[in-house]
Formats: sequence, C-alpha cells, structure tokens
Amino acid sequence: MRSIFVLLSALSLFLTATISEAASPVLPKGYTAWKKSERKVVTDKSSLFYGIHYIYADKKAVRGYLADNKFAEGSRIVVESYTIKGSPDVDGPKNMIVLMQKDKRQKATGGWLFAGFGVDGKPSGLDPVTTCFSCHQKDAAGRDFVISTKKDFKL
Ligand code: HEC
Repeated sequence: MRSIFVLLSALSLFLTATISEAASPVLPKGYTAWKKSERKVVTDKSSLFYGIHYIYADKKAVRGYLADNKFAEGSRIVVESYTIKGSPDVDGPKNMIVLMQKDKRQKATGGWLFAGFGVDGKPSGLDPVTTCFSCHQKDAAGRDFVISTKKDFKL
C-alpha cells in the first residue's frame, strides 16, 4: 500500500514538473547571433507592439522566410522591442522580448508557440491565445501567422 502511495506521489511530482515546463517556455540562448532584421518602428500607441523592433530568425526560420513564409517545425523567431524615446529615430530602453517557435502541438495558436518575456528573460505571462494569436491571425493568416517577411531581413 505504502509503495503505491510513494509511486503515485513520484508520478504526480513528475507530471507537475513536465506541465510547468510546458507552461513556462524558455527564451533561446544566443538568439542575438541569428539573422537580424532591419529596424522596424510601430508608432501606433494603442498597439502592444508600439516601439522599435529588431527581429531575429534562426536558420530554419530564415529558410521559411525565403519560402515566402512557410515555416518548418522547430523554426524560431525572436523580437526585441525598445521604447521610443522622444522621436521615433531614437531607441529607448528595451522593454519586451517575444518568441514564436513552430510547434505542431500548439493547435489553438496556429501551430506556433507564442511567448512573451520581460527584459530579464523571465516569462511575462501574457496569454498566447487572446493576446498574441488574435493579432497575428488578423494580420497574417495567409502567411503562416508570421507578420514580417523576407523584405524585413533584406533576404
Ligand atoms: C497588436 C498586434 C500584435 C500583438 C497583440 C502581438 N503581436 Fe507579434 N507582431 C505584431 C507585428 C505588427 C509584428 C511585425 C513585426 C514588427 O513590427 O515587429 C509582429 C511580429 C512578431 C514576431 C516576429 C515574427 C512575425 O510575425 O513577424 C514574433 C516572434 C511575435 N510577434 C510574437 C508575439 C508574441 C509572443 C505576442 C504575445 C505576447 C505577440 N507577438 C503579440 C503584432 C502583434
């Protein structure tokens, strides 16, 4: 009896660890060495994306951009966002980092894992479905939900 209990609690510990790992995605290390986009400015103050952006695409994602936005499983794209300091010509402090990672298990968000991070790299807890996917679906449903294109990287 006791051994069953021990087994069950070990199993539940394992499950909790697995679930929380899935719930808190990790920002890929070394993404600043990936292919970097041109500087992008969003001046619409009502947008979550108001600010200055640099997009980083890993090798798989670069191939996806070159195929006119058809991305293979595992492709990763990161955006660093900076505030606009006075005029749109000046980058203020970094204020947000976001990640999209192609993951077929994420059915509710078009087969992409969406995750937001603070500047410290810790998950910011923004909801991937209501906060992220709704906007990407609206703007890029015909482009694999990726709004930027190869032009943004001068590819
Ligand atoms: C208000 C609309 C909006 C919301 C909400 C939004 N995004 Fe985006 N996202 C954009 C736009 C516009 C771009 C295009 C590139 C740019 O200007 O940075 C973009 C680009 C991206 C990119 C680069 C690939 C691409 O699609 O071009 C990633 C990664 C990304 N967003 C992740 C997220 C995540 C994660 C969230 C939720 C935390 C989120 N986004 C919420 C509008 C939005």
